[in-house]
Amino acid sequence: MIKLIKSTFYEEDKTKQALTKFITKAKILSFGPECIKFEENFSQYQKRKFTVFVNSGSSANLAIIQALLNLGRLKRGDLVGFSALTWSTNAMPLIELGLNAVPIDVELDTLNVSSNKLLEALKQYPIKALFITNLLGFCDDLEVIKDICKKRNILLIEDNCEALGSKYKNKLLGNFGLASTFSFYVGHHMSTIEGGAICTDDEELATMLKLVRAHGWDRNLSLSNQKAIRDKYQVNSTFYSRYTFYDLGYNFRPTEINGFIGNVQITYLDAILEKRNKNFVEVSDRIYKKTDLYIPIRYSHMDFHSNFAVPVICVSPKVRDELVKRCEGIVEIRPIVGGDMTQQPFFNKYMQKYTHMGKQSNADIIHKQGLYFGNNPELTRKEIVSIIKLFCTDPL
Ligand SMILES: Cc1ncc(COP(=O)(O)O)c(C=O)c1O
Repeated sequence: MIKLIKSTFYEEDKTKQALTKFITKAKILSFGPECIKFEENFSQYQKRKFTVFVNSGSSANLAIIQALLNLGRLKRGDLVGFSALTWSTNAMPLIELGLNAVPIDVELDTLNVSSNKLLEALKQYPIKALFITNLLGFCDDLEVIKDICKKRNILLIEDNCEALGSKYKNKLLGNFGLASTFSFYVGHHMSTIEGGAICTDDEELATMLKLVRAHGWDRNLSLSNQKAIRDKYQVNSTFYSRYTFYDLGYNFRPTEINGFIGNVQITYLDAILEKRNKNFVEVSDRIYKKTDLYIPIRYSHMDFHSNFAVPVICVSPKVRDELVKRCEGIVEIRPIVGGDMTQQPFFNKYMQKYTHMGKQSNADIIHKQGLYFGNNPELTRKEIVSIIKLFCTDPL
């Protein structure tokens, strides 16, 4: 059976040995210098001024929305657009924090929101922010989306949990909006077991994110930002300053174990991305050409495509269902990410007013006709050949 996820880490043995040594010697294992070093390394990789390291991609998504609310850049009740085809914890923070989560349909050939789909939604819904997902390492015309958002004063945030390393217009995905979120969960591009991050160039936002990450206190802020917030609230004594909670927060801190692993794994990141890209190009080149069976996915407009799974959109639900049967016991498969969010019970329970937008949408087609299999760096030649054979033979 070719599994979706093959290992916890790239270079698993070496990483586990290094981790064992680190844990034996480390004086602290809660948030500390390894986490801070990882933030610096990740900022350098992503070419962003600030990285706030957290304990998952889901926490990163909740933290960025909370931070924007704390800063007053979003207000409860505001409409926020999100990609109808995404993961649950992209849309959930919007609902949890009292915003209206407006699903925006995606394109069939890129699986992502395009400027056309955004403009269609804007005719009806005056959204204040767009929390776009760069699904499975792809994007549509993100630069045009960015311009529309800029012109209309819409905050653009990218959920980049599935697109670390992808490039469009010679720029890394995750660098098109005000901020972007990342996941370092096992099986994603780079693993810290569990982990996530938010990147931004906006210092005020990064400062608020650090406060949101840990209880609403100021302990991880720079000295100058600590001084500024203590002056603003007239907190003069050390006795109280360590226990003053300035705004709404959580405990989303990662541990030194995650930080250490991140610092090891990031040195392999380019090699991981190269291998996955090579696998993807080889299998998609063969599979997407079978247009009698599949709707090809377009990515020639991108400079580099980086994913951890290969999506396959069948021409009919019947073809998909037959393929599901055929993969049983040979290739582990699953629906495309979380499917069409408007069909999920949580969305129906809390956002019923927007569920009609899912009717006859592309997200619905992808939900009913799509599946994906894993693309990990350890795929063997034999496995690649057997995947191509399985998907290129008419299943009907
Ligand atoms: C688009 C997207 N956003 C957010 C997440 C959540 O990340 P995590 O699993 O690290 O909480 C995922 C997880 O797979 C995802 O695919």
